Amino acid sequence: MDTPTLAAQQVTGMAAPRTAAPATPPLSRDERQALSRLFRQWPQMVSTERLIAPLPPLFLNLLDIDTGVAGDGRELAVLIARDASLEARLCALANLSAGAGAADRAADAASVVGSLGPVVTTSAALADLFLCWTRRWSTTPDRALPAALWQEYLVAAFCAREIAVALGEGMVSPDIAFAGGLVHDLGTLVLCAAEPGLMSRFIRTGYGHGTGLNREFVEAHSELGAATLMQCGAPAILCDVAARHHEGFSPEESALAMLVCVADHLHAQVAIRSRGQVTVPRDPPAGCFPDAGYALEDVLLAMGLQSGIDDILLRVARQGGLIRHLTPDRG
Ligand SMILES: [Fe+2]
Ligand SMILES: [Fe+2]
Repeated sequence: MDTPTLAAQQVTGMAAPRTAAPATPPLSRDERQALSRLFRQWPQMVSTERLIAPLPPLFLNLLDIDTGVAGDGRELAVLIARDASLEARLCALANLSAGAGAADRAADAASVVGSLGPVVTTSAALADLFLCWTRRWSTTPDRALPAALWQEYLVAAFCAREIAVALGEGMVSPDIAFAGGLVHDLGTLVLCAAEPGLMSRFIRTGYGHGTGLNREFVEAHSELGAATLMQCGAPAILCDVAARHHEGFSPEESALAMLVCVADHLHAQVAIRSRGQVTVPRDPPAGCFPDAGYALEDVLLAMGLQSGIDDILLRVARQGGLIRHLTPDRG
């Protein structure tokens, strides 16, 4: 059977696969007040959250290579070989992708690039490095939450990359788009690190969508994420994505911020096409956006993408196995 189009799914209301979970009790008055205080103190958090380490230099080095024109990937392999633990994890990923019966086992960075290709290798390396970096400073007793958030960021990153490719050369670098998808909600992770229990409750009860508390959260995680990225040495273009990914769509917005915003709405559509590799958790709910409405069709049309969105979603869904393997503590 043909995969239904995005438009058809919006008309029929076809549901994305979701993981079942028991109902979560709503936030209490005390919890809402505590969350409001947390969100309003983001400027002070910027000056006190200095324990967050700089981004790994290798993460930034990888962004300097344009994998779309990087040729044989030798420069990429040399970079990855600088980090023995990353190289080992990527070898394991390449061997997993190749399957048990593969003749050649990836044993070094060059064979990883040869096996996965430069684009997938770069995506996997960026995701791995960013995940390891966030794990150095964020812990939570809620083990399911990081996995759910991380899958959401991975789907946004893979969608952002495919949209950038579809837009064509000269618009947005696909590697920068991928990194933008990865880091755009960094502020949420910083808030989770500061108040793990409270943020777990906020996310599991649906981010307070449609309330003043959600508006406070949107400002807090956007501004805090941008400021944290700046402190940690991220390029200005990634700081801008974190700051502006909730600003909506207008000619004044950067192409990358709009692209990541679109990508951030596509999780459920990818899940539908991924044959169970990508899921949309009911609790915690997916996304800092409530659903895939939000004038998305108009935006896609303005970006010249509406006719190609199904291809983009399918390409990401086909990478569902990779997304699943890159998701920590997956079920
Ligand atoms: Fe967000
Ligand atoms: Fe998001």
